[in-house]
Amino acid sequence: MHLRYGPVVRVAPNEVSFASLEGIKEIYGSGGSGYDKTEFYDLFKIYGRRTMFTTLNKEDHSKRKRILADRYANSNIMKSQSLDGITERSRRFIERCSYSVGQSIDLFICLHDYAFDGVTHQLFHPHGSDSLRNPQDEDIMKQVAFDDSLQNRLIQYYNPPLHKIIGRALSIFVQPRQTPLADELVLSAAQKTDPAQFTLLSRMQDKVYNMDHLDMAAECFDHMAAGIDTTGDGLCFLMWELSQPRSLHVQRQLQKELMANPDISFNKLPYLDAVVLEGLRCFPPIPMSLPRYVPRGGRTIDGFFIPERTIVSSQAFSAHHIDQTVFPQPSLFNPDRWLQEQGGLDRKRLFFAFASGGRGCIGKHLALAEMKILLRDVYSRFTTFPDQDMTDEDMEMSDQLISSQPRGKKCLLRLEPIERNTRG
Ligand code: HEM
Repeated sequence: MHLRYGPVVRVAPNEVSFASLEGIKEIYGSGGSGYDKTEFYDLFKIYGRRTMFTTLNKEDHSKRKRILADRYANSNIMKSQSLDGITERSRRFIERCSYSVGQSIDLFICLHDYAFDGVTHQLFHPHGSDSLRNPQDEDIMKQVAFDDSLQNRLIQYYNPPLHKIIGRALSIFVQPRQTPLADELVLSAAQKTDPAQFTLLSRMQDKVYNMDHLDMAAECFDHMAAGIDTTGDGLCFLMWELSQPRSLHVQRQLQKELMANPDISFNKLPYLDAVVLEGLRCFPPIPMSLPRYVPRGGRTIDGFFIPERTIVSSQAFSAHHIDQTVFPQPSLFNPDRWLQEQGGLDRKRLFFAFASGGRGCIGKHLALAEMKILLRDVYSRFTTFPDQDMTDEDMEMSDQLISSQPRGKKCLLRLEPIERNTRG
């Protein structure tokens, strides 16, 4: 609709969608953290508790954020306790890749395992998961990643009368949230008395914050769920794209940078950075609209007066595609665009994969570190190709309401060690 009608579209009597920098700045950045969230976020309450993500107003949000933010600050993520955990998971991932040489590997599952192990390390090390090596932990990951109860809850939210009529029939196909293994993991982890000091759990356990066991478990569950699909699917779409013949030159350029700079931090490699940003621009793991209420008195947003309590929103996918002066040929996967000096500020400001403002993604630095470390380790060892059993349809972005997954829920790639390539 944005492509057809422009950057401002009234999508319902009480709801307007914005795909412009002006709109994004006002809705998500005004006053620091933008407008208040709508009750849509009630759907994501956990154990009946409001987590940081589900707080609706500024005051509740900043109270909780003051407790949690420190653990996800880039300066802390870049410390060895956090990075060592990610590097070790990446090593385990490479082990699985190495076993697969000569056949195909389903990266969809492995990347979700990697993201799960990475986020649980940050949440409650040494009680984090090891799903890359342990099938029981992989089952926990699958339970969280493939939970489709949101569809049911969404109908309940948007249309309670309809839900009353069809809810029972619907629950035959779409079960209410049932994640007993994941519940067991977070409920028991939240009771441990010895989490490492750098973890989120250790921070929340500090008596001064007065958080009870369920508060801590709910917050951990939320971050765990937030960290699996996003990082897993983001990497999956990106590696699929890199493996296409049309992107082989990108893969070669990346390998060149990685091999020329084996001792430089993953965080200081410009081409790797450009590849990751372009992946998240083309395939934003959370493509959905992020709904907010217009504050009392109404506001003028991008030239339109919008009355109070109207729902307004933006979505990453549209923001990344609509303004062709900022992102020329928006459908083209082209990491080089991020290396051009001209327009750099505009690109940065319109990049909305992690949202923006005070309610933007708190896990951004963790996610970027996970993505870059894994890509560094894979592409300094292997060249990746799509398996012939895969079709383009398998990898279409399928909207899971909050996240997007490959339609076929698989991503079969073939990996060839780089030495063998160059010799052959
Ligand atoms: C590539 C990976 C990721 C992407 C694209 C992403 C994207 C986003 C987006 C768009 C939001 C805003 C949602 C909204 O306003 O409704 C958000 C919020 C959030 N994300 Fe992420 N995320 C990623 C990884 C992670 C990770 C690894 C964690 C783990 C800690 C995480 C935890 C959170 C939390 C707790 C919030 C709520 C922040 C708040 O309300 O202040 N995310 N993320």
